Amino acid sequence: MAQSWAFFLLVVLCFCCVSDLICGSNGERVFLYPQSQKVSSIVSQRYRTAYHFQPPKNWINDPNGPMYYNGIYHEFYQYNPNGSVWGNIVWGHSVSTDLINWIPLETAIARDTPSDINGCWTGSATILPGNRLVIIYTGADPEKRQVQNIVVPKNMSDPYLREWTKAGNNPVIQPVGPGLNSGQFRDPTTGWVGPDGLWRIAVGAELNGDSAALLYKSKDFLNWTRVDHPLYSSNSSSMWECPDFFAVLPGNSGGLDLSAAIPNGAKHVLKMSLDSCDKYMIGVYDLKSDSFIPDTVLDDRRLWLRIDYGNFYASKSFFDSKKGRRIIWGWTNETDSSSDDVAKGWAGIHAIPRTIWLDSHGKQLLQWPVEEVESLRGNEINHQGLELKKGGLFEIKGTDSFQADVEIDFELTSIDKADPFDPSWLLDVEKHCREAGASVNAGIGPFGLVVLASDNMEEHTAVHFRVYKSEQKYMILMCSDLRSSSLRPGLYTPAYGGFFEYDLEKEKKISLRTLIDRSAVESFGGSGRVCIMARVYPVAVVDGVAHMYAFNNGSATVRVPQLRAWSMRRAQVNVKGME
Ligand SMILES: *[C@@H]1O[C@H](CO)[C@@H](O)[C@H](O)[C@H]1NC(C)=O
Ligand SMILES: *[C@@H]1O[C@H](CO)[C@@H](O)[C@H](O)[C@H]1NC(C)=O
Ligand SMILES: *[C@@H]1O[C@H](CO)[C@@H](O)[C@H](O)[C@H]1NC(C)=O
Ligand SMILES: *[C@@H]1O[C@H](CO)[C@@H](O)[C@H](O)[C@H]1NC(C)=O
Ligand SMILES: *[C@@H]1O[C@H](CO)[C@@H](O)[C@H](O)[C@H]1NC(C)=O
Ligand SMILES: *[C@@H]1O[C@H](CO)[C@@H](O)[C@H](O)[C@H]1NC(C)=O
Repeated sequence: MAQSWAFFLLVVLCFCCVSDLICGSNGERVFLYPQSQKVSSIVSQRYRTAYHFQPPKNWINDPNGPMYYNGIYHEFYQYNPNGSVWGNIVWGHSVSTDLINWIPLETAIARDTPSDINGCWTGSATILPGNRLVIIYTGADPEKRQVQNIVVPKNMSDPYLREWTKAGNNPVIQPVGPGLNSGQFRDPTTGWVGPDGLWRIAVGAELNGDSAALLYKSKDFLNWTRVDHPLYSSNSSSMWECPDFFAVLPGNSGGLDLSAAIPNGAKHVLKMSLDSCDKYMIGVYDLKSDSFIPDTVLDDRRLWLRIDYGNFYASKSFFDSKKGRRIIWGWTNETDSSSDDVAKGWAGIHAIPRTIWLDSHGKQLLQWPVEEVESLRGNEINHQGLELKKGGLFEIKGTDSFQADVEIDFELTSIDKADPFDPSWLLDVEKHCREAGASVNAGIGPFGLVVLASDNMEEHTAVHFRVYKSEQKYMILMCSDLRSSSLRPGLYTPAYGGFFEYDLEKEKKISLRTLIDRSAVESFGGSGRVCIMARVYPVAVVDGVAHMYAFNNGSATVRVPQLRAWSMRRAQVNVKGME
């Protein structure tokens, strides 16, 4: 991935005093806000997350080659060792035994051979028979063509696999063939085995102006041949980054190992990154045609399902053989300015790793934070049997409201008041979230959670639901509305949103889980049906106390049979000196 990042370099050149900030006499930057007291600059550590993945400093983007190997989790990442804007990208590397606490290691892959001299970009790890490990990644060659390269561990006795050796025959795949754009050819997937015993990978590409996941085959993972047709392609966009292709069993939260035979009844998921978000299709991997066949083809890509409806991109999944689950990692960027990132000295985090599986109807993926994150939970706050009438606001006290994990069940007392659903909203759910905000009264909802709220609520982030009736089914809207998340000007503050279909007659309850981590608000609605990752930079609450509330602004009363909240301890995320 990466090309589009060049503009960041330009933005940095503009780092200087602009109208909404003043440079202090000692060079310290001091921001002024229209309605609040003078507050200190963003340089402070207060926005730095306490339990999300990030390196000690500098820029990161895509997760690369995540894997569980010989008892250790590895997370690699696109990393700029020289600054907090995109550039000079190498593969950073960290290891963990629990996916939460991480040890930082030295650079795993750098730009030092002809086949990656102009770029060392995203790739994936595959465990071959005999427990042999290989990583395939994208390099940019002297002509700036994108090619695929191989590295293997240098020293198999090193449990951390600190050093990697580049294969002598790199690049192993060149951007050749009619219609292939050699500058849009990157991010190879983890390998899987076909019925003929050969390895396959997919590579994101632009082919004849369309987006494609190109299919390659190999016996030994070194000598690759392009299959005469893509795994899948679509004319509704022109390039896919970071494809991910994996098998899932409907209703089974266990993961499947792509190196093993795929069981009967399995479906396949093709994920692709475009339009600043991660979308996916569910379908079957047809062995006869050696291609992916989606269950539903939607020409309008705005309607494609999304892994996350907020700030989440370039995700990559892996099979965790330790716990028999599939885990997905995604990148979340900063939504302040590049000059803020230069001042902070860091930019970018990875979302909490999530277990990912297919619902029992085979219609959508479900996700949930890996259970290991619960090890950070401190004192528990527990409320039962609350009732939120129209306008009801219940303050959740007793947790660290900047570092918390909150789980709430909302129970509907009646579903008769659901307003009618308009399918055209699906084309632009963010627009609908702006219109159907937390203060806009409706039949059922909005109800949900308000976090990082200042005393007078002038600053707050709302995560909320609304319930609509659509012929025979119910459609639930979930929004994460950042429009009031900060009084600071110049931030990107959308109202993110997604819809999910729900059998309300059977379920009656809608759950919300939100992980709050300083500048991260990561929410899972409807037991993981809609996930929304968001970044917020509140200024009015940072030095004081932030409030957290459950609320209901809908006409129908909503019960809260169960509300639990925990303060979250700081994790050891790439803290230097812990080795
Ligand atoms: C970082 O900057 C130093 C000094 O300019 C340079 O020698 C080094 O090659 C840079 N590293 C990368 C990965 O570009
Ligand atoms: C390989 O790794 C082991 C374990 O860390 C270490 O003892 C050994 O010195 C390493 N060998 C080389 C050649 O670096
Ligand atoms: C690579 O694989 C192709 C197709 O199987 C085969 O024709 C070719 O000889 C192989 N090349 C090498 C160097 O092994
Ligand atoms: C994409 O291809 C389909 C079927 O071949 C065609 O009907 C449609 O018009 C094409 N769309 C675009 C945007 O080219
Ligand atoms: C990152 O943040 C900006 C807001 O500045 C957003 O518009 C952009 O598309 C985001 N995501 C990615 C993947 O770049
Ligand atoms: C609920 O609605 C009222 C009245 O419109 C509004 O003042 C309040 O801020 C809303 N609550 C939330 C959490 O937005």
